[in-house]
Amino acid sequence: MAVTKVVEKEKEVTITFRIQRYMPEKDEKPYFKEYKIPITRGMTILDAIAYIQERVDNTLSFRASCRMGICGSCGLLVNGIPRLACQTQVLQLNTTVVELRPLPNFPIVKDLIVDFTGFFEKHRSIKPYIIRPDVSDLSDLDKEYIQSPEEHLMYLQFSYCIKCGLCYSACPTTYTDELFLGPQALTQAYRYSADTRDNGIEERLLIVDNPHGCWRCHFAGACTMVCPRGVDPALAIQLLKKEIAARRFGAKPRRELAKLAPPPKEAKPRPNIPKPPPPSV
Ligand code: SF4
Ligand code: SF4
Ligand code: FES
Repeated sequence: MAVTKVVEKEKEVTITFRIQRYMPEKDEKPYFKEYKIPITRGMTILDAIAYIQERVDNTLSFRASCRMGICGSCGLLVNGIPRLACQTQVLQLNTTVVELRPLPNFPIVKDLIVDFTGFFEKHRSIKPYIIRPDVSDLSDLDKEYIQSPEEHLMYLQFSYCIKCGLCYSACPTTYTDELFLGPQALTQAYRYSADTRDNGIEERLLIVDNPHGCWRCHFAGACTMVCPRGVDPALAIQLLKKEIAARRFGAKPRRELAKLAPPPKEAKPRPNIPKPPPPSV
């Protein structure tokens, strides 16, 4: 994968990368290997590991795709903090030694690559999609639901999640309870339930209201601290607890399901506008 940027002709700094290596089929336990490579301003951790793989040691394995903080696949533990490799500039770390390890709380596949299977199963378990009785309307692309800007803001920040798993790797509860749903899945349970187009909150609360669900979170906020998209999973989990508590005290919050927007009025063409050519395929 050619992700190394063309480096500018300017002063280089030699940085030591201590990278955790591990091939479960071959190695008894993980070990560190050091690489000293030239770094210039603007190079990211992803650029550096791509440089190492392309020019120094092609046995090093890592995962990345978009290089722009969107796909969520390049998460690493950088000097002890979960970060996206493509969004972390090496020189901004202000150190001459950078330690890279795979994200904690995930099984290691090889070197810096971890297995997200369990993480995605937890995400799927909370039904991360719009649930409503009139499903036929959902598949009709000519129809749309009315939602006010205020209603949109109720879930907007939670919809920015790119499923990078950084919050999950930072969470101490995930470390101690492998059945804990984790900050990402719980946040998405809130994201869909807070959407006025959705009517699935009762179904999702049944899934998250258990000893491995939202009550296991002790609100330390490590998840929120590391999220690269500004999502606040700790807040979402507290809002889920609030929804559950309200129901236990008999104060079921009133929810108005978003209605279908009326069909748009037929547009009248302006006079003297030429007609478009007929479709060619
Ligand atoms: S909430 Fe943030 S840290 Fe967690 S998976 Fe989503 S984007 Fe990544
Ligand atoms: S606030 Fe909850 S979900 Fe977030 S890191 Fe702490 S225990 Fe984990
Ligand atoms: S490579 Fe896609 S988020 Fe970093």
